[in-house]
Amino acid sequence: MEVIEYNPKYKEGALKIYTEVLGIDLETSEKDLEHHSKSETSKVFIAKEDDNILGLVTFYWQKWNMTGHIGVIGVSPSAQGKGVGKALCNKVFQFAKNIKIRKVYVDTSIENINAQIFYIKTGFKFEHIMKDYYKEGEDGVMFSIKI
Ligand SMILES: CC(C)(COP(=O)(O)OP(=O)(O)OC[C@H]1O[C@@H](n2cnc3c(N)ncnc32)[C@H](O)[C@@H]1OP(=O)(O)O)[C@@H](O)C(=O)NCCC(=O)NCCS
Repeated sequence: MEVIEYNPKYKEGALKIYTEVLGIDLETSEKDLEHHSKSETSKVFIAKEDDNILGLVTFYWQKWNMTGHIGVIGVSPSAQGKGVGKALCNKVFQFAKNIKIRKVYVDTSIENINAQIFYIKTGFKFEHIMKDYYKEGEDGVMFSIKI
């Protein structure tokens, strides 16, 4: 398994992660992938084995305070629990360090316990709760890691 920067050759596999793993509709997925792969302040990394896309992470950053955010992260069900998600995060941390980002944030729904365990295990620390962040009654949890 290797983690590389996304290129359009992997569009179909990348969109499958968005739609099938993250449950995002195709139109929103295409826009998000297009934006994060082309913007000057974001990157998309994919985990792959041969030409098979196992997972994806988007990362964007702000120059004014040199902080970054993980946008989406997903690993295909058959590849989960094998270190792919961690490898995607480590790629983000390495990239962030290279461009002198000092802190990386990520948020998830308070209901996504698995993701919260995953972020803690990957080195993130609890930051704060965001009331009704996803929708009324569904709070967000913000995590961060110092780079
Ligand atoms: C969350 C997700 C990205 C994790 O990816 P992954 O490849 O399965 O995670 P890894 O195998 O790299 O696990 C890293 C660590 O987190 C732990 N972990 C991951 N998923 C876990 C789970 N469901 N329950 C408990 N621990 C978990 C692993 O045990 C591992 O711990 P270790 O380093 O002590 O061995 C993946 O499960 C996924 O795509 N989930 C669905 C989409 C999602 O919820 N995305 C996040 C939305 S914000």
